[in-house]
Amino acid sequence: MAKQAIYRKDYQPTDFIFGAVKLHFDLFESATKVSSDIEVMRNPKGNAKEKSLQLYGDDLALVEVKVNDEALPESAYTLNDIGLLIHDAPDAFNLKITTVINPADNTKLEGLYFADNLFCTQCEPHGFRRITFFLDRPDVLATSFTTTLVADKAMFPVLLANGNQIDQGEAEDDRHFATWHDPHPKPCYLFALVAGTLELLEDSFTTMSGKEVTLRIYVEPGFLGQTAHAMTSLKQSMTWDEQAYGREYDLDIFMIVAVRSFNMGAMENKGLNVFNNVYILADAETATDADYEGIATVVGHEYFHNWSGNRVTCQDWFQLSLKEGFTVFRDQSFTAHISDPTVKRIQDVNVLRSRQFPEDGGPMSHPIRPDAYIEMNNFYTATVYNKGAEVIRMQYHLLGEETFRKGTDQYFSQYDGQAVTCDHFVNCMADVSGIDMTQFKLWYSQSGTPSVTAKHDYDAKKQQFSLTLKQTIPSTAGQTKKQAMHIPISMTLLDAAGNSIPAATKVLSLKDTEQTFTFDGIKEKPVPSLLRGFSAPIKLDANYSDEDLMHLMLHETDGFNRWDAGQQLSSRIIFKLMKEADQSKWTVPESYIHTLKHILCDDNLDKRLKATLLHLPSEIYLAEQMTVIDPDAIHAASNFMCEQLAEAFVSDFNGMYADNQSDSAYVYSNADVARRALKNTCLMYLGCLKNDEAHQLAMSQFESADNMTDSIAALRVLSHMPLALKSAAFDAFYQRWHHHPIVLNKWFALQAGADVPAVLDDIHQLMKHEKFSMKNPNTMRSVVGTFSLQNMAHFHAADGSGYAFLGEQLRQLNHINPLVAARLITPLTQFKRYDDKRQALMRAQLEDLQHIHKLSPDLYEVIEKSLAES
Ligand code: TRP
Ligand code: ZN
Repeated sequence: MAKQAIYRKDYQPTDFIFGAVKLHFDLFESATKVSSDIEVMRNPKGNAKEKSLQLYGDDLALVEVKVNDEALPESAYTLNDIGLLIHDAPDAFNLKITTVINPADNTKLEGLYFADNLFCTQCEPHGFRRITFFLDRPDVLATSFTTTLVADKAMFPVLLANGNQIDQGEAEDDRHFATWHDPHPKPCYLFALVAGTLELLEDSFTTMSGKEVTLRIYVEPGFLGQTAHAMTSLKQSMTWDEQAYGREYDLDIFMIVAVRSFNMGAMENKGLNVFNNVYILADAETATDADYEGIATVVGHEYFHNWSGNRVTCQDWFQLSLKEGFTVFRDQSFTAHISDPTVKRIQDVNVLRSRQFPEDGGPMSHPIRPDAYIEMNNFYTATVYNKGAEVIRMQYHLLGEETFRKGTDQYFSQYDGQAVTCDHFVNCMADVSGIDMTQFKLWYSQSGTPSVTAKHDYDAKKQQFSLTLKQTIPSTAGQTKKQAMHIPISMTLLDAAGNSIPAATKVLSLKDTEQTFTFDGIKEKPVPSLLRGFSAPIKLDANYSDEDLMHLMLHETDGFNRWDAGQQLSSRIIFKLMKEADQSKWTVPESYIHTLKHILCDDNLDKRLKATLLHLPSEIYLAEQMTVIDPDAIHAASNFMCEQLAEAFVSDFNGMYADNQSDSAYVYSNADVARRALKNTCLMYLGCLKNDEAHQLAMSQFESADNMTDSIAALRVLSHMPLALKSAAFDAFYQRWHHHPIVLNKWFALQAGADVPAVLDDIHQLMKHEKFSMKNPNTMRSVVGTFSLQNMAHFHAADGSGYAFLGEQLRQLNHINPLVAARLITPLTQFKRYDDKRQALMRAQLEDLQHIHKLSPDLYEVIEKSLAES
């Protein structure tokens, strides 16, 4: 197991490339025979002198190697750390390799694995080398793949692989086979197969040029009734990609398979997407509105990869953001299009601030195009994905919709069927727009979240407003010297009546370390509104007064900045409370309550936006804004704020709650989602009071709910109450849903996230539950992930019990599923942000973990980098 870093600067094309690839799988749970048949030839771009062919392999038992149908003697090849080295390879030849693998033992869920009675694969980024010896790199595109699967007919009636099915039939011993052919050139990370007992929903889609495509969604038996929304989302995605990007689907069939055991959200394998079932299954009774939205987003994301990722792929894994940043931007735009664009933007920025900002300031900080990695799985990050999407978004705004589309058209047509770099993408944008993108490219190479401070001044005599912007890029892990970046700042000036001044409504290009912008003919002192729509992924200190923020909260028409003004003001108030040790002196300013009251009573305001504006900053985002994080104080002050607002608006919340109840059956529509969001925001606030009324309201909603959105909202309120008050509801929920793994995960998560003293004892019990499995990433994330990421006050308990608990889990998970372990460890890597005592406790856990026998490269890299920083 290699623990050495791989560097971007060392990129070299391979010496050999592949033509047609044929694969044959004789599927058995613990001994699957894999035979490959590959056309190999020299790469014209490679090193012509290199005689040997180095293939990658991991955890494989080699049976046989044949070159041009002659079995190779052992002297003709070497099994080394990388895989299989074939000495003296001819310039062009046929290569046949047979290996045996053990899918049932594959708890890493990378490569071919057998779980929940299903064979399935996950090959990105390096899973294919766990199936057979291969040039497992994204820049080696085999011209076609033909895959034959043979398996027991009764247990595995459905046999799937990429492309179109070209053959099927009987085999010996009650087995059968199917052969699939994918005519598109593709790297092996896009390979997939699935075999099992599955039910399917079939539909069809007619593309813009009139081709009919068969659409199939496969799920395990019993769940067919929960596939309609995913199918609708798929068709919406296909239509949207044609309209927004002119991209059409390119095979006769598109298949999705939903599985229980999956490391991430989903995977864009050509023509055969494999999904974590949480991103497919939904109906009113089992899925919340947020689940519905997540499904549309992920179905879209994977579908959009067919062009941004599959047709045009990455030269090497350092370029991951080429496909992921762009595809996240595409799925964000799609979701905005079908839902509420303002609220969607707010949610996306929330994710960036609460997950990417801490990452960018921590020991794993890396640019969206990293320069080195030890374990590539560790670089599927919020930085590569979400900051990457922000970097594409800035280009979209810099060029404007039409020119950006010209740029993407050129990118897709010029590089179709190729493996390229982030530079190729940006160069297309420069090309079609004539804009010099040299400085902009620093967004790809510099890590760290830029800070911008604003100073403003109004000269009444000259009727002139001036704005001085100053940028600093913090030094980050491995990067100390930084250059000034090109930061687009979208802005306006609001007059006293709250109208924005047209001449001052523009996008400033901050390119120097410090720049002053002046605005003439400004008749009265305005309130600036900066970074509208979050025009750049930065931290802005706009130097607003409390009054400025309240002015923005009431009048700004840019929904994002309106919301952000509220976030800034409420953060400010919470931080002020935290500084006052004597909690009996805590109060919330009248002016703030007064401003919120206006929002609350504004009948013209969209309900979903209203609900969003009423939400306080999350504890995670509050923590992110502090130099030394005090989880107890954050928790106490946040709770206090919540209670104060609930008390101040108790009748408004009760009234709004009643007004937004509905007797009609659940419908997933934007209007109903908005109504439920507002109603459940009222419930959440009233629930903060934890009094009898709150308990009764939550219980009655829980008992009468006909949909999961309302059930979960009620159960969440109850989850923070004492056992005697909540156990009936939790028991009833369990009785109803114990057979449904996804719903049960919600039950696990609510208990792991509960703000109750005994939460850790409860969690230990949950982990002994028959439905809990450490081998299943979803249950691990629901219990361990929810506790350590969402239940801050308890995870960071001063006695270190939360840290010890996480350490204990990771010591086991390291051997079972290192990829998931390296994700769950994240909160511990942030230790430098806490007080000395907590730091010491967290560091002790990391040091302990570092000594695990057979520590995975995944955990090794994260721990090493975390400890090296101090
Ligand atoms: N390419 C996938 C996506 O973003 C990511 C992914 C799915 C993945 N499964 C994985 C990455 C396993 C690493 C390991 O759509
Ligand atoms: Zn992706």
